[in-house]
Amino acid sequence: MAKKGRVFSGARPTGRQHLGNYLGAIQNYVDLQKEYDCVYCIVDVHALTTVETTQELQQNTFEMALDWLAAGIRPDESILFVQSHVPEVMELHTYLSMVTPLGKLTDLPTFKEKIRQQPENVNYGLLGYPVLMTADIVLYKTDIVPVGIDQAPHIEFARETVRSFNYRFGTKALIEPDVKHTEVKKVVGIDGKDKMSKSLNNHIELALTAEETTKRVREMVTDPARMRKTDPGNPDICNVFTMHKIFSEKEEVDMINTECRKAGIGCVDCKLRFAGNLNKHLEPFRAKRADFASRPAEVQEILVDGGKRARAIAQDVMKEVRAAMKLP
Ligand code: TYM
Repeated sequence: MAKKGRVFSGARPTGRQHLGNYLGAIQNYVDLQKEYDCVYCIVDVHALTTVETTQELQQNTFEMALDWLAAGIRPDESILFVQSHVPEVMELHTYLSMVTPLGKLTDLPTFKEKIRQQPENVNYGLLGYPVLMTADIVLYKTDIVPVGIDQAPHIEFARETVRSFNYRFGTKALIEPDVKHTEVKKVVGIDGKDKMSKSLNNHIELALTAEETTKRVREMVTDPARMRKTDPGNPDICNVFTMHKIFSEKEEVDMINTECRKAGIGCVDCKLRFAGNLNKHLEPFRAKRADFASRPAEVQEILVDGGKRARAIAQDVMKEVRAAMKLP
């Protein structure tokens, strides 16, 4: 069957993937494979903007590949590769930087947040991060980019950069990508407050054991106004309830919605029910992950093969880009 177009997305190999990555992005990566040519990239170069040592980069890259394969990315159909295996992206990044006004980069909320997070390491790579991300996307003539809502400003930036580049060089070589979010868009961490992320240590990794997952779920912050089990709670502002709506059957969700409001069910019980349902949902993922983990050479081979297929596309697009720019 002819596919509708190309999908591209990427994630930084900072560790194992968590529920935020899964609900905000990975579910779309998997679903979109049915109708699109999909290219999924482990962006190890982007990770260098925040990591202090490259010691764990290779291991983290491998772990991320395991997470994605276990979640359902099919390497026979889609391209799964590592960013640094396609050096053309660095070249395109440089060209795109020439049509990028500096003020646009310094104004981006994501850059400002990074400055706050790591004031001791405000490197040039952080500033150019969205330019490299744009290069990732346009190098594959991407139509759709599935990402969480936090990445939306970067996709808008990519669209503007494509317009500037095409206008400046009188070409249509680059394509403006559309963004695609899941229904959840932004997953809140176990603190019940901030976006789930590894750097805030408020995350639940998909590859935890069932026991570790339950322990983490028990730490989740619920309605702060509910001090005792006998106090009625408000599911509308409770992150555990939000998760129940995603992972639990309708009957159970309805029961919790009613009972929580009249203190008929306590937070611990509610969390244990969620942990049980989450563990059940993740069971096949964990089994598949363990299976891939037992065949590391095969996983490496998938990444090498993906890199070759990605590079073949990238090299063709770069010919077009250089021609448009009148470069040899
Ligand atoms: P990264 O590694 O921070 O996250 C990977 C994907 O997971 C999504 N995500 C979330 N979604 C909802 N709720 C959360 N709490 C949550 N945490 C993470 C992110 O939105 C993302 O989709 N800049 C990108 C990587 C990148 C990229 C690209 C993405 C580089 N080049 C090209 C798309 C296209 C990033 O740092 O994602």
